[in-house]
Amino acid sequence: MKKAMALLTALLLICSVSLAEDAVSSATLSVDRLPVVESTGSSILVVFFSTDDTVRAAAYTIAEALSANLFEIRPAEPYTADDVNYHNSQSRTSIEQNDPQARPAIAALPENLSRYDTIILGYPIWWGQAPRILYTFMESVDLSGKTIIPFCTSGSSGVGSSASNLQKLTAESAVWLDAKRISNGSSAEEIRAWAESLGLAKEEPVMFYIHVNDAVLPVKAENNTSSEALLQLLEAGDITISMHDYGSFEKVGPLGTSIPRNDEDITTTPGDVILYQGNQLTIYYDENRWDFTRLGHIDIEQVELKAILGSGDVTVILSANP
Ligand SMILES: Cc1cc2nc3c(=O)[nH]c(=O)nc-3n(C[C@H](O)[C@H](O)[C@H](O)COP(=O)(O)O)c2cc1C
Repeated sequence: MKKAMALLTALLLICSVSLAEDAVSSATLSVDRLPVVESTGSSILVVFFSTDDTVRAAAYTIAEALSANLFEIRPAEPYTADDVNYHNSQSRTSIEQNDPQARPAIAALPENLSRYDTIILGYPIWWGQAPRILYTFMESVDLSGKTIIPFCTSGSSGVGSSASNLQKLTAESAVWLDAKRISNGSSAEEIRAWAESLGLAKEEPVMFYIHVNDAVLPVKAENNTSSEALLQLLEAGDITISMHDYGSFEKVGPLGTSIPRNDEDITTTPGDVILYQGNQLTIYYDENRWDFTRLGHIDIEQVELKAILGSGDVTVILSANP
């Protein structure tokens, strides 16, 4: 029995030493080399907590790969080196991780969480689990209806029950995907490859083009059956339309054929390309409200659009190519 205890103690000692080595040798990704991640219009938010920069580096790599936004969970009271000393059973992290009720305060919560569909949630493994501050986060925000993709970094431990324990704190309507463990030695390439494998990368917008008066207006196609039908027509060949002004807010002309309608109550803005009555194309340079179908939008200032279209009748060519 004594021998068994001695063996167990020796094993525990070896484990804790390798944990310590892993922890200090952690990030191969240096924060000095972190890419600058611009705030984007993305629907993906990478939320992370990190005390020693391993998770931070991974979070930045993921955000850059997916053009996502970043949010760091910062503790109201930052963790010192003594706080994260897991050799000391009385250190702050040892006490917190041993206390299921511990909820370390967060300095600030993310704003506008509602605009994100997907949350990629990164944390280090502390004693086999997510740090308690992640529990504070889960209990402080409403993630209902969102897709959550957890990832953790660690010296040697796997994800274990860390993600499922966090899941218990979110609304049932949140969809949790499998958690990914990123080992401390992982390269940026490996992390990027995982991020890209999620299939979340921003899709290129579908475009068509309006050639008018020596200018080419790129139109970002609306995602509906009407613009799909129009794009199919354009694949077969260009469409020439004679347009005239109507109501001092639009140029309008016959498409030459009918395509499916997806009419809705729309107040137009300059640059809107609209299907009227299923067989006429309009380019709006001012505001009008009616029931009609969006085909796409030209991202352009009103004055510039008006100058390109000119006044009076005009012939435009719709094309799949610029
Ligand atoms: C308090 C504490 C406890 C830890 N517990 C574990 C553990 O149980 N298993 C493990 O593999 N690594 C453990 N580690 C190592 C970290 O999970 C690992 O170094 C992680 O990548 C650190 O992330 P960060 O650099 O972003 O803070 C622990 C580290 C600390 C500070």
